[in-house]
Amino acid sequence: MNDVWTITRRLTPLRRLAVLDLINRTEVELGREALDENRRRGVIHDWPGEHWLKEDGGLRGYAHVTDTQVPCVEMCGGGLDQDLLAGVLAVHPVVDWWLRDSPGHAHAMRTIRLMTRPLPAPRVEVPEGARIRHFRPGLDDEAWLALNNAAFPDHPEQGEWSQEDLEARTREPWFDPSGFVLLEIDGELAASCWTKVHELHPDRPGEIYVISVDPRFQRRGLGRIILSEGLATLRSKGVSTAMLFVDASHESATSLYEHFGFEVAREDQILRFYA
Ligand SMILES: CC(C)(COP(=O)(O)OP(=O)(O)OC[C@H]1O[C@@H](n2cnc3c(N)ncnc32)[C@H](O)[C@@H]1OP(=O)(O)O)[C@@H](O)C(=O)NCCC(=O)NCCS
Repeated sequence: MNDVWTITRRLTPLRRLAVLDLINRTEVELGREALDENRRRGVIHDWPGEHWLKEDGGLRGYAHVTDTQVPCVEMCGGGLDQDLLAGVLAVHPVVDWWLRDSPGHAHAMRTIRLMTRPLPAPRVEVPEGARIRHFRPGLDDEAWLALNNAAFPDHPEQGEWSQEDLEARTREPWFDPSGFVLLEIDGELAASCWTKVHELHPDRPGEIYVISVDPRFQRRGLGRIILSEGLATLRSKGVSTAMLFVDASHESATSLYEHFGFEVAREDQILRFYA
């Protein structure tokens, strides 16, 4: 263990506020998110977890390590720190490290692209027999979870969501059911597009937060329709830039987004390290 970074499973109230302050200041400096949304939620809601702190007359650095089979490290600001790496590898034999806006590592395990496009986007006609409506919290949970988990069977962040995972997000202050659209065919949920407006970001971009088509209905044009509907809800809220994150190896989704005029704005990478 090094003496620069210290580890704790629970942030004291003062440290928690200092971490939030550091995250907020870093976001302003970088003009982008400083930390993955879920990790930030962990700090906001005071969830226990593996927190790493660099303190020297004040908080100088923060990192979070997930409790997953291969723990995943992310540092506030998204960089790499050799002292922290040494500390983390003294505790875990193998770790993944999420690097933001830092492409070009030949041995990256995963590359995640941020893609953007201006709004409005071209509309795609909704065919007869398909019905578009908003998600109703509580009433649509079960059907949406079934769709989500069928569409993302092995996805590290998106798959195997529980009722609790869904509710935790629909209880967030940013949640807005009018930006969460569903497509039904004969009363059956076939596709969904959940959007999120980043109200506190200087550019106020709108994110395609989760998009999925039931595997039984894929390759029939529903992805295009539901994406078009999601983008239209963002536009109706005055958003002028749409954004989304996609794994670089995900060809079908990338191809859908490129057809829609999305372009790569940034690349994040996940590197693996062994003790
Ligand atoms: C990605 C996804 C939303 C596409 O939905 P879909 O209804 O199958 O897509 P569409 O039929 O509307 O196809 C639109 C375009 O997407 C691309 N596409 C869709 N499926 C594809 C596939 N299997 N291989 C290659 N391209 C594909 C093509 O560019 C296609 O245009 P084309 O038909 O003119 O070639 C759907 O596959 C899905 O829900 N996947 C699982 C969840 C997921 O990965 N979401 C995205 C996370 S970033």
